[in-house]
Amino acid sequence: MKSKIFITGSSGFIGFHVAKKFLNKGVKVHGFDSMNNYYDVRLKKARLNILKKYKNFSFTRGNLENEKKLSKSIFRFKPNIIIHLAAQAGVRHSIKNPEIYLNSNILGTFNILKFANIIKVKHLIIGSSSSVYGANKKSPFQEIDKTDHQVSFYAATKKSTESLAHSYSSLWKLPTTMLRFFTVYGPYGRPDMAYFSFTKKILAGKIINIFNKGKMYRDYTYIDDIVDGIYKLINKPPSFNSKKKFKNDSLSPVAPFRILNIGNTNKIYLLDFINTLEKQLNKKIKRVYLPMQKGDVYSTLSDSSLLKRITGYNPQTNYKTGIKKFIDWYKNFYH
Ligand SMILES: NC(=O)c1ccc[n+]([C@@H]2O[C@H](COP(=O)([O-])OP(=O)(O)OC[C@H]3O[C@@H](n4cnc5c(N)ncnc54)[C@H](O)[C@@H]3O)[C@@H](O)[C@H]2O)c1
Repeated sequence: MKSKIFITGSSGFIGFHVAKKFLNKGVKVHGFDSMNNYYDVRLKKARLNILKKYKNFSFTRGNLENEKKLSKSIFRFKPNIIIHLAAQAGVRHSIKNPEIYLNSNILGTFNILKFANIIKVKHLIIGSSSSVYGANKKSPFQEIDKTDHQVSFYAATKKSTESLAHSYSSLWKLPTTMLRFFTVYGPYGRPDMAYFSFTKKILAGKIINIFNKGKMYRDYTYIDDIVDGIYKLINKPPSFNSKKKFKNDSLSPVAPFRILNIGNTNKIYLLDFINTLEKQLNKKIKRVYLPMQKGDVYSTLSDSSLLKRITGYNPQTNYKTGIKKFIDWYKNFYH
């Protein structure tokens, strides 16, 4: 069967790149996005304008919470796959604005579950986050680890969507994969993320704040690797009747539901990352060292071997190459 893919958050960073990949493969894509002003709307418009050049792309501007608008665009397009990437992202913003997260992430995902179930999609893929591992100490993080201790409201909404989706998948046998993303970066990236705001500040000669004296690390994952993982995954919906069992599988025993990490599996310490930016931007960085921020975690590192076993996923981009590609894009886009 030919795929028809409905992508929420298609004007967002990850949604845009995923949509572009499928359009380049000749697949029909319908994008759905509120185009909200959480960050520079010009960037969202620029992404949307690129997608609009494809004849196989159509678009609805709307909020996930608006049931009527969402259901109308899903029922009219009749996708067989939904990739749900629209969400209110950002850990820090969620501390002061929890209601937005409750509405976009929880109510929004509930609406997607409802309509995905009515039209019986063959695969529903939902964006989750490494932040659900919260205060876990065991590293790298595995899908089968407990995730009971989120430390930000954002992470709590993401964990909640995993539970909501599992119940729907179990009740209605809706094939669902939750993808836990690990610090995704790259061209057309998100201005609220550290690598982006650092670049902006360094180029403007401004001071950058380094929290916890830089003693933390992240599993930076380049956008093309994320896109490749999702591309390989769409034809691998979880099936709980499947004879094939994978090692350390997170497949639910009662539902066609699986959680998958998607990361690069490489520890990048914040100070190494900043030093690489300094070198590549060829500018001395003015730094100020501050204590740890509320809601932040010290470390994230994925074990993405389950995704590899299922799809052959094999991330290709190391962070020095990835940062260079991001900086080249940034300079070109903003100057
Ligand atoms: N980028 C990362 O490093 C990262 C890490 C972990 C998880 N994630 C998750 O991946 C997904 C995509 O993230 P991203 O980095 O592309 O973020 P993004 O903010 O760039 O994209 C999200 C898009 O969703 C739209 N949106 C937000 N709320 C909406 C609503 N209520 N209705 C309709 N549209 C709405 C926004 O306008 C935006 O264009 C999100 O679920 C996010 O939580 C991202």
